[in-house]
Amino acid sequence: MDYKAYIAEKIKANVDMDLEEIMELIEIPPKADMGDYAFPCFKLAKVFRKAPNSIAEELKTKINSEGLERIENLGPYLNFFLDKSVVAKEIIEKVLKEGDKYGSDTTGNGKKVVVEYSSPNIAKPFHIGHLSTTVIGHSLYKILNFEGYDVVRINHLGDWGTQFGKLISAYKRWGNEEALHSEPINELLRIYVKFHEEAEKDSSLDDEARMHFKKLEDGCEEETALWDRFRSLSLKEFSKVYNMLGVDFDYYTGESFYNDKMDAIIDDIDKKGLLEESNGARVVMLDKYNMPPCLVKKSDGATIYATRDLAAATYRKKTYDFYKNIYVVGTPQALHFKQIFKTLELMGNEWAKDCVHVGFGLVKFQDRSLSTRKGEVLFLEDLLNQAVAKTLEVINEKNPDLEDKEDVAKKIGIGAVVFAYLKNNRERDIIFDWKDMLNFDGETGPYVQYTYARGKSILRKLGYGGEKIDYSKLNSKEEFELIKLLGAFKDAIESAIDKYEPSIITRYVLEVAKAFNKFYNSYSIANCEDEETKNARLKMVEATCDVVKNALDLIGVNVVEKM
Ligand code: ARG
Repeated sequence: MDYKAYIAEKIKANVDMDLEEIMELIEIPPKADMGDYAFPCFKLAKVFRKAPNSIAEELKTKINSEGLERIENLGPYLNFFLDKSVVAKEIIEKVLKEGDKYGSDTTGNGKKVVVEYSSPNIAKPFHIGHLSTTVIGHSLYKILNFEGYDVVRINHLGDWGTQFGKLISAYKRWGNEEALHSEPINELLRIYVKFHEEAEKDSSLDDEARMHFKKLEDGCEEETALWDRFRSLSLKEFSKVYNMLGVDFDYYTGESFYNDKMDAIIDDIDKKGLLEESNGARVVMLDKYNMPPCLVKKSDGATIYATRDLAAATYRKKTYDFYKNIYVVGTPQALHFKQIFKTLELMGNEWAKDCVHVGFGLVKFQDRSLSTRKGEVLFLEDLLNQAVAKTLEVINEKNPDLEDKEDVAKKIGIGAVVFAYLKNNRERDIIFDWKDMLNFDGETGPYVQYTYARGKSILRKLGYGGEKIDYSKLNSKEEFELIKLLGAFKDAIESAIDKYEPSIITRYVLEVAKAFNKFYNSYSIANCEDEETKNARLKMVEATCDVVKNALDLIGVNVVEKM
């Protein structure tokens, strides 16, 4: 039930105001002991020609309080207290009935949403910066899917560009077949670094690389075969990380996919009269919009990153007829996307307004001891493995006899990293710190997962409370706070979609876990006053577990039954 609307109706019966206006005025009081909803009477002062305080006093006696616990007036405010047992029954029964569907909806109505995320660069390590786009995008997919959108997941791999000329050249000179086989990314990185070192001394290497890239663009057999190999070896490495995270894609249409689709775009830009020359290059001028020009063709005729994005957006519109086209890419590329979206708009595409750049901040280290395998780059795979190993240490210390320790450590360790990445507003930089992340008592993944496992263990021990439940037994402040939070899952989801912000779900589930633990630390379930109280509390525990599980799933974190 929409309690706010229910209260608004009651107010409406006594004042001459639209329901909508009343709804807008109703607030949630800052403190729980001030009621569940409050209505300020300032606006009524003119109509009633009375002070707001006396209006509140008068309305309090007039408004029908049936179905509510009580109405109070505090200064110029009317405070409404919901009937706790009615609310508890309604919310808990709804959660338990809907189970893993609780919070889901059909509001998306099958509308197509393209979400592009991860998009690492081939032949380069998958580093910790790429984890942000991967987990934010994956979570947005989960959330949108849960609300009934039809999501197309795209990995726009960085699999084309002049660097492949360098790699081919380097491989032909110094490549080690065996190493490429056993540790492909390391080997590709090694020869790439070597190429740059050698090219400093001998600039003819750059010409050689350009020649190989030209041959690659022309489809020459040897170059194409090498490129193809680098690409599939990289993808195989990346998929290890994706598997660990449970992340998936519908298409791996990377930059190379648009090679044959760019002439048409450039022609189109030209036909629309937007193409201009600047120092031999072809650009779209955007100075009217306070932006530097969007470069579509370099002076040597090569197409570039931006051109591929123009082609990609156009292809996606044609292929998926999207309602929204979302790019989860770091905030440093904000200007690039502004230029792309503006250029698409100038080309007459009214759908340019449906393209959204979802940016995010940087990842910084707190702990310098985070070991790196090779020099500067920290491999994401290593980082996730470290998280799992550290979690296993904790388990071995705290609960050495736990079943399936390895599996539990995986879910908690990886969950901890994902949770830390999605905890704060995505625009904010992330300070990476093991201690914070794996703290079982902090605002962490393990803390929330532990709450779930604790709930499950209570249910295993004490049962599920049976059929006949007296919800009026759930009458403490702590219980009511928790139950109201369980009822607010939907609001959190809606606002997460609205702002493209998974952290709203992360924050929400943290609040639920905190509210549960506050209850759990103040009241006993096993040794209750009476059997009815115990049964009602067990239902509440079960509903809490359901909500925590659904919410964690939306941010891509698994639960464990025991830990
Ligand atoms: N591969 C790029 C990088 O790692 C990100 C690609 C972003 N997506 C796009 N459509 N431009 O920086």
